Amino acid sequence: MTQHKPIKKAVFPVAGLGTRFLPATKAIPKELLPIVDRPLIQYAVDEAREAGIEQIIFVTGRGKTAIVEHFDVAYELESTMEERGKDMSVLDPTRATPGDIITVRQQVPLGLGHAIWCARAIVGDDPFAILLPDELMVGEPGCMKQMVEAYNEVGGNLISVLEVPQDEVSSYGVIAPGAQVSDTLTEVTGLVEKPPVAEAPSNKIISGRYILQPEVMRTLENQGKGAGGEIQLTDAMARMIGNQPFHAVTFAGNRYDCGSKTGFVEATLALALEREDMGSEVRAIAERLLAK
Ligand code: UTP
Repeated sequence: MTQHKPIKKAVFPVAGLGTRFLPATKAIPKELLPIVDRPLIQYAVDEAREAGIEQIIFVTGRGKTAIVEHFDVAYELESTMEERGKDMSVLDPTRATPGDIITVRQQVPLGLGHAIWCARAIVGDDPFAILLPDELMVGEPGCMKQMVEAYNEVGGNLISVLEVPQDEVSSYGVIAPGAQVSDTLTEVTGLVEKPPVAEAPSNKIISGRYILQPEVMRTLENQGKGAGGEIQLTDAMARMIGNQPFHAVTFAGNRYDCGSKTGFVEATLALALEREDMGSEVRAIAERLLAK
C-alpha cells in the first residue's frame, strides 16, 4: 500500500456571522453554543484528536476570541475548584498542549473558501483536515477518524457525504458520484454548490468534513465569488477534480446541522437521551411534554 503523508493539521473555520441563530449569536460565537454541557467547538476538536490530529488551526473573526479562551488554562476557576475539592476532570478536554492551537484571522467573512485560504501559511505543503463545528457528527468511530482511515487507503482528497431527500439538495454542496470503490467510498466526478433541484447531480450532500491536499490553497487564491456572493470551497474543490484523486466517504453515524435552530434542538434532545446520567429523566420530560 502506498504511504500517504499523514493528516496532522486541521482547520476549523469559525469566523462566520451565525445570522440564522440571532440574537443568541450576537455576542456569543455560534461555535460555543452548548449541546447539553459541551460547546460545539469541543465536539469538533475531540473528533479531530480522536483521528490523530495534532495541530488545531482556528480561523477566527471579530467577537470570536472566547473560542480560544475555552482551550486555555482558567487559573482562578481551577484554583478555586481545587481549594473546594471539586472534580476537575470535567475540564480535561479543554486543555491543549502548549503551541498546538494556532489562530489566524479572517477580517471579513467572505465565505468558507476564503476562510480556509486564510490558513494557507500554517497549512504549508501538508495535506490537512477541515471540520465545520456547527455540523455535529456523532458516530463510533467519529467521522474524521473514518475519513482518515479511508485516506490511508486512497490518499488524495476526501469529503464526507450523506443522502438527503432530493427536494432539499439546493441548500447544500452536492456531489456527482463516479465509480463505487467500496460500500462507503465513492469516486467524485463533479461538485456543485446549492444547485436547483432539477440540476442536482445526486442527492449526496457534502457534510462539513474534508481532507484536502495543499494545492487547494492555490486554487482558492485566484477564485472569484460563487453561490450567495461568497468565495466557495466547493468551487475550488470542483476545479481540482481530474487533476487529483477525489473521493466521498459516506459517514456511518448521525449528523446534526447545529447552525439551524431545529437541528440544534434535535442534537440537544438526541444527545441528552443517550446520556447515562440524564437519559431516562429527559425521556420522561419529553413524554410528559408530548402528552400535553
Ligand atoms: P455557515 O454557512 O453556517 O455560515 O458557515 P455562518 O455565517 O456561520 O452562519 P449563518 O448562515 O449566517 O447562520 C459554515 C462554517 O464556515 C464558517 C462558519 O463559521 C461555519 O463554521 N465561515 C463561514 C467562516 O469561517 N467564514 C466565512 O466567511 C463563512
